[in-house]
Amino acid sequence: MNGIKMTFRPGAGARANQEHYLRALQEAIQITEKNLDLYVDAFPHVSRDHKYQPEENRLWTASFYPGMCCLAYEMTGEPKFLKNQDKILDSFEQRLQNRVHITHDLGFLYTLSCVSLYKLTGNQRAYQLANRAAAMLAERYHEKGSYIQAWGEMGIGYPDVKIIIDCMLNLPLLYWTGNETYENMAENHAKTAARYLIRSDYTSYHTYLMDPETGKGVCGKTHQGYADESTWARGQAWAVYGFALSYRYTVNPEFLKIAEKTAEVFIRNLPADSVPYWDFTFTDENPDIRDTSAGAIFACGLLELAKYVSREAAARYVNIAERVILSLSQSYTTRDLADSDGVLKEGMYHRDDGAGECVIWGDYFYMEALVRLVKDWDLYW
Ligand code: GLY
Repeated sequence: MNGIKMTFRPGAGARANQEHYLRALQEAIQITEKNLDLYVDAFPHVSRDHKYQPEENRLWTASFYPGMCCLAYEMTGEPKFLKNQDKILDSFEQRLQNRVHITHDLGFLYTLSCVSLYKLTGNQRAYQLANRAAAMLAERYHEKGSYIQAWGEMGIGYPDVKIIIDCMLNLPLLYWTGNETYENMAENHAKTAARYLIRSDYTSYHTYLMDPETGKGVCGKTHQGYADESTWARGQAWAVYGFALSYRYTVNPEFLKIAEKTAEVFIRNLPADSVPYWDFTFTDENPDIRDTSAGAIFACGLLELAKYVSREAAARYVNIAERVILSLSQSYTTRDLADSDGVLKEGMYHRDDGAGECVIWGDYFYMEALVRLVKDWDLYW
């Protein structure tokens, strides 16, 4: 590897921690390089003993490794990071063709595998696939209730229909198309999410049951959090980042307010070392395992949010994002685990599945946050 070609964030001045971020990024890029030829039509998901097993392209996580390759390519200019792009696109095309496990996660899947590639290289096949995926995501829009159904076949009834906070990161695929109908669907979904998934104190429900007959919300439920009424850390991170992104595309002030208020909840619940426990039920006085991926997503959210607030508020957000990323890079990487092919340890999928392990979305968002800290990043979302 020739090293990272840097464009420092304009106006950021001589940032004290730049060298540290660059070293951390270099480590993440080296790990990305390790399995370039292994993750081509099967992709990392959640590690076992800090090793990933390639999983066929049917999970919501298949695009995070291709997204890391795009970041690595962008930072180094080295073509090897995109050398398997045609085979990766074959895999993502087959997934659409065969409608393999189609959920609202089409946004995660095709933003980081296709929109990213299109933005970096102008790849037209990636552009077409991303647009096809957006059309399929739009099929999940429920007109009466103004929401995108998370999981399950369309046409099923209560109580199997849910909206979930994670979907906020699926909306950018719809906004990106520039198709007015899709943009409206995304904005309407964000309004519905604001109404039901964000509580009056700006904590969040993970999911909300919807009644497709009436289009109305029924009740909040958790899927991966500690309890229905608790606040799942990763869900709160999806809220901060997702509403900041919806604000970016719509300039709807309500979304900015929610991003800021949900960020304050997150900040209040950060432990002393700035890496969140997996649910805000847990604290330094009553600790449990962490979710490093929630910290990485939250840092990306703060760095996005910093673009839309006063100079003072922005400086505070950037400072907190740096605290999170510094802590992750100092104490939570796999540096001490020579055999690991993950970047961050102590991630968490479900409490009883993939707790304390590497999770590929944690690796991706950690890398994205580092890239955001060292350059003025043109985002894939
Ligand atoms: N989007 C699924 C998760 O955050 O685990």
